[in-house]
Amino acid sequence: MILVTGSTGHVGRELVARCAEAGRPVRALVRKAPADALPDSVEAVVGDLDRPELLRPALAGVRGVFLLPGYADMPGVLAEIGRAGVGHVVLLSSVAAADGVMENAITRMMIESETAVRGSGVPWTILRPSGFMSNTFQWAGGLAVSDVVEAEFPDVPVAMIDPYDIAAVAAHVLLDEAHFGLTHALSGPEPLRPADRVDILARTLGRDLRFRGLSDEEARARMEGAVPPQYIDAFFRYYADGELDDSIVRPTVRDLLGRAPRTFQQWATAHAAAFS
Ligand SMILES: NC(=O)c1ccc[n+]([C@@H]2O[C@H](COP(=O)([O-])OP(=O)(O)OC[C@H]3O[C@@H](n4cnc5c(N)ncnc54)[C@H](OP(=O)(O)O)[C@@H]3O)[C@@H](O)[C@H]2O)c1
Repeated sequence: MILVTGSTGHVGRELVARCAEAGRPVRALVRKAPADALPDSVEAVVGDLDRPELLRPALAGVRGVFLLPGYADMPGVLAEIGRAGVGHVVLLSSVAAADGVMENAITRMMIESETAVRGSGVPWTILRPSGFMSNTFQWAGGLAVSDVVEAEFPDVPVAMIDPYDIAAVAAHVLLDEAHFGLTHALSGPEPLRPADRVDILARTLGRDLRFRGLSDEEARARMEGAVPPQYIDAFFRYYADGELDDSIVRPTVRDLLGRAPRTFQQWATAHAAAFS
């Protein structure tokens, strides 16, 4: 049995689907029932990663766990995973963890999650993806009422990855001893600036979309109130100060899966309905 945390999220939903398609027994951790988005064959169990002591029913009989980072007591979560006799945990982290900058709140959250996994005594694999193509869903509300996309950090290229591919890699490595103790940095196939994504979306949707880059002052003003201050600072450290280079294209998806990572065009085609 594989337990997928974040099963209603972008990566977890894809992982549940891949496991179900392959006929692998899969259990989805959900915060509240019913989970209508899950395939019929998938068992849903209610649990909260911020309450490790309540995870025991979800972990009973589980061999592999796909784990999201950044919850209140990651060592406590890992202690429950170890106590349940789980044989492998695959942690979703971020490329940012490689930089080791503990002053950055997002980087620190990833590093602390990785440290908890590495120190748990449970065999582990860590995935460090680049920024997700699904971050583009942030534009969906605006595109419902306008043909203009306004986005922060217009000059910053990111080798965005489709959550489908992160899930495919997770499914590939889960319970495979060959990947125990390994950290895989993952990216999509090409670096894209926000304007590049708008062009691809425009072609995919058959719409005449235009792009306007926000100044750093505008971007900060929009984030205030919507994003916790420490995360606003983290994003500005990454993308305005250049602390993170997320434009690097990595061969890992192809090396592991024997095929190219999915393009933003493929992602946009698969999710076009969300932008209509
Ligand atoms: N976006 C990026 O560019 C990026 C890059 C690198 C790493 N990451 C990391 O990737 C992770 C997953 O991203 P995603 O896009 O797949 O997730 P997502 O779509 O944002 O969804 C988050 C998932 O976590 C669940 N969740 C939230 N709080 C929980 C709790 N206390 N206990 C149990 N489950 C909880 C949510 O469940 P509900 O349905 O109940 O809310 C949902 O299934 C994030 O942790 C992020 O830090 C993101």
